[in-house]
Amino acid sequence: MTPNTIVGIIGSGAMGAGIAQVAAVAGHSVVVYDNNAAALDKAAANLKATLMKLQEKGKLTDAEAIIKRMSFTADLQGLAACGLIIEAIVERLDVKKSVFAQVEQVVANDCVLATNTSSLSVTSIAAACTDPSRVMGLHFFNPAPLMALVEVIPAIQTNADLIPQAKDLMQQWGKLPVIAKDTPGFIVNRVARPFYGEALRILDEGIADMATIDWAMTELGGFRMGPFTLMDYIGHDVNYVVTETVFQSFFYDPRYKPSFAQKRLLEAGWLGRKSGRGFYNYAQGAEILAPTKDEVLGKQIFERILAMLINEAVDALHLNVATAADLDTAMTRGVNYPKGLLQWCNEWGTAQCLEKLDELYHLYHEDRYRASPLLRKQAIGNKKIV
Ligand SMILES: NC(=O)c1ccc[n+]([C@@H]2O[C@H](COP(=O)([O-])OP(=O)(O)OC[C@H]3O[C@@H](n4cnc5c(N)ncnc54)[C@H](O)[C@@H]3O)[C@@H](O)[C@H]2O)c1
Repeated sequence: MTPNTIVGIIGSGAMGAGIAQVAAVAGHSVVVYDNNAAALDKAAANLKATLMKLQEKGKLTDAEAIIKRMSFTADLQGLAACGLIIEAIVERLDVKKSVFAQVEQVVANDCVLATNTSSLSVTSIAAACTDPSRVMGLHFFNPAPLMALVEVIPAIQTNADLIPQAKDLMQQWGKLPVIAKDTPGFIVNRVARPFYGEALRILDEGIADMATIDWAMTELGGFRMGPFTLMDYIGHDVNYVVTETVFQSFFYDPRYKPSFAQKRLLEAGWLGRKSGRGFYNYAQGAEILAPTKDEVLGKQIFERILAMLINEAVDALHLNVATAADLDTAMTRGVNYPKGLLQWCNEWGTAQCLEKLDELYHLYHEDRYRASPLLRKQAIGNKKIV
């Protein structure tokens, strides 16, 4: 993987097009393949328009040269000369496995095959290949040209030498790579689950309404968006499905249990902003819900969700999902949290954080609220996590 490597992108949707742009701007020749010719045409036109606009704004000087480096094909054979393939097609294991098995027949033996999957096992995608040692996860965030974080995920079969090479390449592309173990949700989609899940639980129990929970997390917590606004923004077809996949992949650990409130929205087709209605109603003239700005209630909500988030990050560290530095980078740069959760834990105090979790555990007697053994250990004498 060098600057001369031809990069192949499979799937020309939101992520594929974004990653193609990043690779081409970084100087690579890029081939974009999609089995849907209409999607391919749309992506080609949008990419050209985006690059010309960036040039008009003075953010690029060589848009035309970048466009010339990109080609688009509906024929898999078009990927034959690529040295790195990044797959960004529909999030279905059977479809991804079939595409990996096919593309492996087309490319050279030393071509690296990466998947942008959000929540599937990289190891099981790799298993579809004759040579699984060349398969890894490269998980970009949406929109790929703007979000710096990339999770680099070795499958258990991946040749270890490829990981520093992939990290270097991502840095050359101006990205911030972190290494994540091949476990459900990797770093961000695992550690962020309580931001949604605990907010939904608070709503389900009638402790506060969604506008109040959103207010608590933005005004008192410093998050850019409250959980309900964010879920509506991501879309329940994406956010709910990731939660459900992570829950199933963790053998139904109650920590990741989805909520009926969100499932019903999906069933109703109330997907969020994109469909005009989700938790909130985005129709013109619709009533805007006002939060109850009760500081005592707001603090309870914020501390409950924060304690659950911190516990998730600490447990990911405990289980060697990633290093402490990568865990904090992932949450600040992948989902723009105001602070890394391990740093937040140290500032709040491991003892305080444990006290909050134990309070919830004693109230509910649910495994969902069990503290990570690492948090419990460090809380003795209020020691820092790292
Ligand atoms: N959207 C996000 O926020 C996001 C973020 C990170 C990762 N991802 C992951 O990236 C992948 C793509 O997501 P997206 O949002 O870009 O999807 P998308 O629906 O926008 O695009 C998918 C594209 O893949 C094409 N496609 C589907 N099956 C194909 C096949 N068998 N062969 C060739 N092309 C095929 C479709 O025609 C479509 O153009 C998924 O694995 C998703 O989980 C998405």
